[in-house]
Amino acid sequence: MKTVVSGIRPTGNLHLGNYYGALRNFLAMQEEHNCYFFVADWHSLTTHPDPKLLVANVLNVLSEYLACGINPEKATLYLQSDVPEIAELYLLMNMQAYLGELEKTVSFKEKARQNPNNVNAGLLTYPVLMATDILIHNADYVPVGKDQEQHLEMTRNYAGRFNNRYGVNFFKQPTAFISSENLVKIPGLDGSGKMGKSEGNAIYLVDDPKTIEKKVKGALTDNGPEGENSQKPDCIANLFTLLKIVSAPEVVAHYEELWNTGQSKWYGSLKKQLAEDIIITTAPIREKINDIKNNTDYLNKITKIGAEKARESAAKTLKEVRTIMGFRNL
Ligand code: TYM
Repeated sequence: MKTVVSGIRPTGNLHLGNYYGALRNFLAMQEEHNCYFFVADWHSLTTHPDPKLLVANVLNVLSEYLACGINPEKATLYLQSDVPEIAELYLLMNMQAYLGELEKTVSFKEKARQNPNNVNAGLLTYPVLMATDILIHNADYVPVGKDQEQHLEMTRNYAGRFNNRYGVNFFKQPTAFISSENLVKIPGLDGSGKMGKSEGNAIYLVDDPKTIEKKVKGALTDNGPEGENSQKPDCIANLFTLLKIVSAPEVVAHYEELWNTGQSKWYGSLKKQLAEDIIITTAPIREKINDIKNNTDYLNKITKIGAEKARESAAKTLKEVRTIMGFRNL
């Protein structure tokens, strides 16, 4: 049995990128491994969320985890901020991270460019906190989408550096969990490479069928193939990527054939099919989300039990790290 850790930031509702990039793998892994899934609420602080909104978004992510099928009897489900051991290990791990490499992180550079007036230290050391989330349970696997690849590489660097510095073989080298050959990257509906909350190009698990139909209908397309077997522009390639994920192989083959034979006027039909297949996946989840979200007693109970289990594992790691580094454990 391996140890698995992963988290999602509470910055709104979860979208298809979160589902196919992360959550769907959580479901498979909880059946056979020791899993820790959490709501990364400290990670959302880089944008200074309004406290009321933060509370609402934590409930969103928790209820969406459960509606998708995370089973709190199989996996440990908790809030990052309920585990103070993470904050202490974060302080210790910060000493393994160098300014030059933090400044070069793709996600940091991107966020700093988007919000030049809010380049806070938390944003800079975001990868260290993420590494800490993973190392606090000494994880083997981390189910994430392709956008988190670099953060995982940094996690392995910090783990290795710690081991080298103290002459121990304590931290493992955690790897991204991959259910297929490649890490998944779900594209947006606007022709861009990544579906994201802030990009305004996402389909959310809570979206009702009408909204999904409208969004897919509005997805960016071109004027049709320029001849036979031509190369697809990004916006069309994206629609095919989505289709491959939610639709049957024969459906994909049918539209590939239309593209490759250079036919026109079938984008409407493809979009209709795509919307239908997305709705088939999301409808049962959406129906459960609202029931769970309103049951705050249940959510409190689950996360209290989750926090206790997570703290037990975290305290064990932290105690050993403190000893290795030369601190006493009172
Ligand atoms: P976050 O909250 O941005 O996203 C949560 C998960 O969803 C995946 N994801 C995607 N996968 C494929 N295609 C997309 N378009 C797409 N959009 C999002 C992300 O890869 C991620 O797995 N730093 C993390 C949260 C985190 C974490 C951790 C994850 C904090 N500590 C420890 C794993 C382990 C983040 O911002 O994910």
